[in-house]
Amino acid sequence: MDSYIIRPERAGDADAIFEVNLQAFGQDGEARLVRELRHDGDFFPGLSLVAVCGDRIIGHILFPPVTIVSDRSETAALALAPLAVHQDFQCLGIGAALIEEGLKECRRLGNRIVIVVGHPAYYPRFGFVPAREFGIHAPFPCPDEAFMVLPLEDNALDGVSGTVRYPPAFDTTGAHTS
Ligand SMILES: CC(C)(COP(=O)(O)OP(=O)(O)OC[C@H]1O[C@@H](n2cnc3c(N)ncnc32)[C@H](O)[C@@H]1OP(=O)(O)O)[C@@H](O)C(=O)NCCC(=O)NCCS
Repeated sequence: MDSYIIRPERAGDADAIFEVNLQAFGQDGEARLVRELRHDGDFFPGLSLVAVCGDRIIGHILFPPVTIVSDRSETAALALAPLAVHQDFQCLGIGAALIEEGLKECRRLGNRIVIVVGHPAYYPRFGFVPAREFGIHAPFPCPDEAFMVLPLEDNALDGVSGTVRYPPAFDTTGAHTS
C-alpha cells in the first residue's frame, strides 16, 4: 500500500471520520458516538487522530474524557474509543500506529490515565492491564480481562479506584467498545 501519515483531525474531516467508523465496524453505533461526543463537547480535537493515505482517511482514533468515581474521589482520565481502521487496510499496523501516536499525544497534553474496553489479546502490547487490578470497574457488564487501564506516568494510579463514568453519548449510542 502507499504510505500513510497520522495527524490530528482538521476542520472538514468529520464526515470522513464518520464514514471510516461506519465502514470498519459495519454498523453505525461508533460513528454516531463520535458525532455525538463532538456535538456534546466531550471531545478534544487534538485527541482525535486520523490515518491518511493520499487524501483519504483510512483510520481514526479518539480519546474522549471519562471520570473514575469513588465515594472518596473523582479522577480525570481518557477512554480510548473508538478505534477504527478501514477494512481494506486492516492488519497492516495502522491500528497500532494510531494507538502509539495517540498515547504519545495524550501524554504530551498532560493526561495520566487511559481506559479501554477491547480485545485482551490486542491492547496489552501497548501496556494496558486489567483495570480490576487497581479496583477500577466498568459501569456496564464487561468481562474483567476486556476492561483495561494504562497509567501514562509512574504513580498515576496511586490511590485511584472506583467506577468509570463515561460521557452520555456512550449510553445514547450503545457504543462502549474501543
Ligand atoms: C481492531 C482494529 C482497529 C485493528 O487495527 P489494524 O490496523 O487492523 O491492527 P494492526 O495491524 O495494528 O494489528 C493487527 C492485530 O490486530 C488483531 N486484530 C485485528 N482486528 C481485531 C479485532 N477486531 N479484535 C482483536 N484483534 C484484532 C489482528 O489479529 C492482529 O493481531 P496480531 O498482531 O497478534 O497478529 C481494526 O481491525 C478495526 O478497525 N476493526 C474493526 C473495528 C473494531 O473492532 N475496533 C476495535 C475492536 S477492539
